[in-house]
Amino acid sequence: MNNLNGPIGLFDSGVGGLTVARAIARRLPNERIIYFGDTAHLPYGEKSPEAIKSFSLKISNHLIKNGAKAIVIACNSASSVGFEYLESKLSVPVFNVIDPLIEELKKVKSSGIGVWGTRATINSKVYATKLKKALPETYVHCLPTPLLVPLIEENHLSGEIIDSVIQYYLKKSNINHLEHLVLACTHYPLISTQISKHLNAKVTLMRTPNIVADSIAIKLKERGLLQKEKNYFNHDFSVSDYTDTFKKISQVFFGDGIQLKENNIWASTNGI
Ligand code: DGL
Repeated sequence: MNNLNGPIGLFDSGVGGLTVARAIARRLPNERIIYFGDTAHLPYGEKSPEAIKSFSLKISNHLIKNGAKAIVIACNSASSVGFEYLESKLSVPVFNVIDPLIEELKKVKSSGIGVWGTRATINSKVYATKLKKALPETYVHCLPTPLLVPLIEENHLSGEIIDSVIQYYLKKSNINHLEHLVLACTHYPLISTQISKHLNAKVTLMRTPNIVADSIAIKLKERGLLQKEKNYFNHDFSVSDYTDTFKKISQVFFGDGIQLKENNIWASTNGI
């Protein structure tokens, strides 16, 4: 049952999904957000589809128990392998971060699209399949870029190390054939300025969080699920394994106002 006054529930493997949470908070200022980052199981990009689905279901149920009127899978890895599964299991609307991007790319009619994501996202072939269907004539190159998430979680957002990794992946992406580069991981917006520095003017970076926030705003409105007045309760951000590093990086992702706390929802069960 949907509770109109309930919060929007978001989850990710860690703090990357905060880029989406921030875009939603700005786009829908009346809404309250509850966010769960599964830092105990980070990175999802290296986990099996079965494990990711199981984590995602447990987290979604936790968010729904805490009043979530809708679930946003603020993680490309979980969106890639778990979206249909969650839709089939949950009683509230579920949104992924992939479909809004595909819709946007349909509008821009690109001649060449590069996609960077985790191994789980790229191996799922979800982007390759959806883009082929949406834009059959377009050249598409999907590349797993697994070195980026650990560097971002370690707050290496600029400097020599991240620059050389970006250059290495750009070379592997046949960048000269591309007109758009999709950052198909909710962590990557944090290094979008850094990536832009290495791109020629011909290549446009697709900025997922704003595109996703716009799409969710439209879909919640269509379902009559938007708050009419401002919800004055604070947003709620928790992670399954709290460390100072996550605390520090969450401020970079969301802004200074964030109060991150630990809620180990796995402690009461035997793992997954
Ligand atoms: N934020 C996750 C995503 O969008 C990636 C991080 C991870 O590998 O857990 O895919």
